Amino acid sequence: MPAIKGTDSLDNEIDWFCRVLDTRIRLYFEQTCDYDSIDEMVPPQLKGDDSEYARLIAMYDFDFDERMILILALIPHLRPQVLDTLLITNSNTGRGYVEFGGWKGKVHGGFLPTCETALFLLAGSDLNRRIRVMRYFDESHPFHHHGLLTFDDEATRETIFSRPLGASMETVNRCTTGICQKPDFSAKFPATRIKSTLEWDDLVLAPEVMDEVANVSAWIKHQNTIMQTWGLGRIIKPGYRVLFYGPPGTGKSMTATLLGAETGMDVYRIDLSQVVSKYIGETEKNLANVFNQAERKNWILFFDEADALFGKRTQTSSANDRYANQEVAYLLQRIEDFDGIVILATNLKTNIDEAFARRFQSLVHFSMPDADDRQRLWRSSLNGQCKIDDDVCFQQLAERYELSGGGITNVVRCGALSALRRESDTICHNDLVTGITKELRKEGKTL
Ligand SMILES: Nc1ncnc2c1ncn2[C@@H]1O[C@H](COP(=O)(O)OP(=O)(O)OP(=O)(O)O)[C@@H](O)[C@H]1O
Ligand SMILES: [Mg+2]
Repeated sequence: MPAIKGTDSLDNEIDWFCRVLDTRIRLYFEQTCDYDSIDEMVPPQLKGDDSEYARLIAMYDFDFDERMILILALIPHLRPQVLDTLLITNSNTGRGYVEFGGWKGKVHGGFLPTCETALFLLAGSDLNRRIRVMRYFDESHPFHHHGLLTFDDEATRETIFSRPLGASMETVNRCTTGICQKPDFSAKFPATRIKSTLEWDDLVLAPEVMDEVANVSAWIKHQNTIMQTWGLGRIIKPGYRVLFYGPPGTGKSMTATLLGAETGMDVYRIDLSQVVSKYIGETEKNLANVFNQAERKNWILFFDEADALFGKRTQTSSANDRYANQEVAYLLQRIEDFDGIVILATNLKTNIDEAFARRFQSLVHFSMPDADDRQRLWRSSLNGQCKIDDDVCFQQLAERYELSGGGITNVVRCGALSALRRESDTICHNDLVTGITKELRKEGKTL
């Protein structure tokens, strides 16, 4: 089997860790030691190293202390026996050494580190250094903020540093297999990544709608200039919140995915009708999970079926009650505080009151396409390799039938099926009319 790229880098890093650990123990217990300080143990050179581990260190520009903390958190996954030294019993107390921190898992037989372990390794009994190291456990540090490490807050928190220190699955995978996983949909993570095979040229929108959409994409590209270089971050709230509203099949989802593709951001769709009804009680926690990840990963959050929100809000009676529903209030607050891109999509256009609208930087109305746009939609839908009979007149179809872009796509599918069932390789007018009849019937209309 070929060696996995990056194993050498991890090997070297663990060896370095072992040397620091050994030196710390010797210095602490005043045993013979070739060094006066752990700082003499220079960390492995990672320049020119193209492993994912080295890339992670370079990306955050981690220093000696941060590298020690990271590898300490990874060691139980990579070479757990390295920490066995820390299991020794203090003969004075008959127990483990308090200053080593650590905890024992239910199943894992070895030593599992806590923040205290990291403090001991790096600072020993040097209080000054200990205080300096503490800041790596702040919520603002990437270890926490970017979810590189896990700090089990639910564990008994006798002191903040008795919290178990672990590496997130994502970090473990990234450093070992080099794979940066994308999370999968689950009750705990009620979001799905959406992509489109379509391109901007396929999108048919009225110019004013296109202009609003261009604003969103300009924000994504230029937010740093606006917020930092121009210093407007002082007065402008970070993030960009957009509401897409309009009838079904008018391109709301498609536009969200195109914005993602254009700006290189992943788009995650959260079906609010599901979230609000299905995960009641758990909703806040699960949504928090999505928001936290999204912030770190620079995703576009696309809340679909947002009518579920308006529904909830309008069910309540008095005006003061409107935001009483906890989940909705929570969601709106998170949306407002989120410093990335949030797009909400809904079919309703009524019920969007001022209080709600104020929270959004743009409200984009996806209207039904007019006859000219419908003609463009017909043409672009059928410009592939399939053959079209001469009796098909796009202009006539466009003028006669009020269909949405989604409707036209459905008709094209139906028309293609109809042609093939006639054992023909050419779609004719009647094939399309069969589809149109069905499509209009869905909307409660007749030909
Ligand atoms: N404006 C448009 N331009 C080009 N194609 C469109 C447009 N609107 C819809 N389509 C086609 O219809 C499909 C469905 O559209 P989409 O899912 O984006 O609609 P939507 O507005 O999100 O509808 P819903 O409200 O039902 O979620 C698209 O994948 C695309 O093929
Ligand atoms: Mg949609």
